[in-house]
Amino acid sequence: MPAHFSDLHAQLLDILRESGNDFVALPVLAQLTNSSIEQLNQLLAELDSLSCPLERESGTVRLAEADPLPAAEIDYRLDTEQLGRAIYHFAEIGSTNLKAAELAETGVPDGTLVLADRQLQGKGRLSHSWHSPAGVGIYLSLVLRPRIPVAAAPGISLVAALALVESIKNLYSQEAAIKWPNDILLNNRKLAGILTELTSDGDQVRHVILGLGINCNQTEFPAEISDLAISLRQAVGASMTRVHLLATWLSMFESRYRQLQDEGFESLLPEIKKHSAVLGKRIKFRAHSKSQTGVAVDIDPTGRLVVEAAGQRLKLSAGEVTLEDNY
Ligand code: BTN
Repeated sequence: MPAHFSDLHAQLLDILRESGNDFVALPVLAQLTNSSIEQLNQLLAELDSLSCPLERESGTVRLAEADPLPAAEIDYRLDTEQLGRAIYHFAEIGSTNLKAAELAETGVPDGTLVLADRQLQGKGRLSHSWHSPAGVGIYLSLVLRPRIPVAAAPGISLVAALALVESIKNLYSQEAAIKWPNDILLNNRKLAGILTELTSDGDQVRHVILGLGINCNQTEFPAEISDLAISLRQAVGASMTRVHLLATWLSMFESRYRQLQDEGFESLLPEIKKHSAVLGKRIKFRAHSKSQTGVAVDIDPTGRLVVEAAGQRLKLSAGEVTLEDNY
């Protein structure tokens, strides 16, 4: 049976992450964690069994993967009541959204988290794919069963995006922005994307699969997106610990998700608008089957984007929006 993840495992992992590629001598680790060499060896063996593979070399040790994201550590770091309290973790999967949709049909609880270290067929919006290489991004889906009518469901993406912007500000002092309807930009490039998929019973939400992909430790991107994408590591100039961001986002999203259900989407609108990357900007969009340009002037109480184009006010409820002067 795998060991229980403890404060000492967490401390040890943080030290090993900090040390990056360097091997750390066992006596140094023993001193830093206030353990005997015997206890330390026991802890290291336990980390190995908890899906944090290690490499050893004559009395020294380092992580085999730069930033492991083991389910036991996520569970240890979470302070949520509902989100992520059940975790399905995969080293490799087609798409976490597809897996979460399957699980939702089997009745898993609200807040069930599906996480993968790598996706082979990560899905983006509008039939795009989501580049999901091993070990560097966060690829997750949540099964949500919100007490809201179908008409209010699109707001969930904006609320999840707001929680991510808030998490990034708290952890890294970076000002990310929400590009309606569900992208998160940093330095005008795409840092994260959200894909929500809704299943309903009449006008009631049965479940929503909320998929989130965050670029964390990428140092490069495929040529076709390299001018458009950014990772946190590229923006901050240091490597990221994915579990810290994941635990923070789940906690912030839980409180915002509760607010959405208890007080309604409108109560979140001022914060969402404050962090918008599109309000007040000229945008390109498609409406009535044609490409148009206009100025994004508001987000309405149901989450639709209000655009002024050719002297008219239009309300967009989905679709691709491009900022004229950058992303
Ligand atoms: C987009 O910006 O187009 C949305 C991207 C959503 C990607 C995430 S990664 C985890 C989850 N599983 C998927 O297959 N897609 C979402």
